Amino acid sequence: MQLQIAPSILSADFARLGADIEMLNKSADLIHLDIMDGSFVPNISFGFPVVEAVSKIATIPMDAHFMVVHPERWVKRCAELGVSMMSFHLEAAREDASTILADIRSHGMKAGLVINPDIAVEDLFPFIGQADYFLIMSVFAGFGGQKFIPESLERIAVLKAELDRRGNSAPIEVDGGVSNANAKLLAQAGASIFVAGSSVFKADNPATAISELRNSQ
Ligand code: DX5
Ligand code: ZN
Repeated sequence: MQLQIAPSILSADFARLGADIEMLNKSADLIHLDIMDGSFVPNISFGFPVVEAVSKIATIPMDAHFMVVHPERWVKRCAELGVSMMSFHLEAAREDASTILADIRSHGMKAGLVINPDIAVEDLFPFIGQADYFLIMSVFAGFGGQKFIPESLERIAVLKAELDRRGNSAPIEVDGGVSNANAKLLAQAGASIFVAGSSVFKADNPATAISELRNSQ
């Protein structure tokens, strides 16, 4: 399967964000936007003014990852700003997850469902067919630059097997500590969208780091 690389601008230099987005336009597949509210996660990142600024120069799709307590509040705003993929955490949505997934789709975006490492991967199974993609966190959501949790590989493989068993082709995105050290194993486990923050933006040459990740199969 063709891998897609979604650099997380959380690790970019916000003082020169425009230049970084231009670089991503040329070298990445998606732009990953980490939106944190200081409640669902113990950190605040950025909000819609930054998404809007990115939207004005992005020529590749924007992939918004909501780490917030009320993701349903932001669906319309995302669609208006041209976000292509919008994901939110099952832990935040609970019994409203199906409704929110449907709402994201009805706004013309791809709907993604995310789980942190302490949520059973089987909890995603009821949403197969309702989500356009699934995001497995390989660190606990909240901060860039954390260490990859190796058990994530098995969780991705379990989800991939269930998707295959049901004939569902929803891609699996992985987020947290993704680098050359684990990319090949992640691809083998069944992930096909790689979020990468520090391994891209802290590299000497981010564009090269992106293409190395893409060729890691
Ligand atoms: C963590 C975010 C990630 C993060 C990834 O809460 O969802 O997208 O920016 O950063 P790295 O690749 O440095 O772990
Ligand atoms: Zn993320």
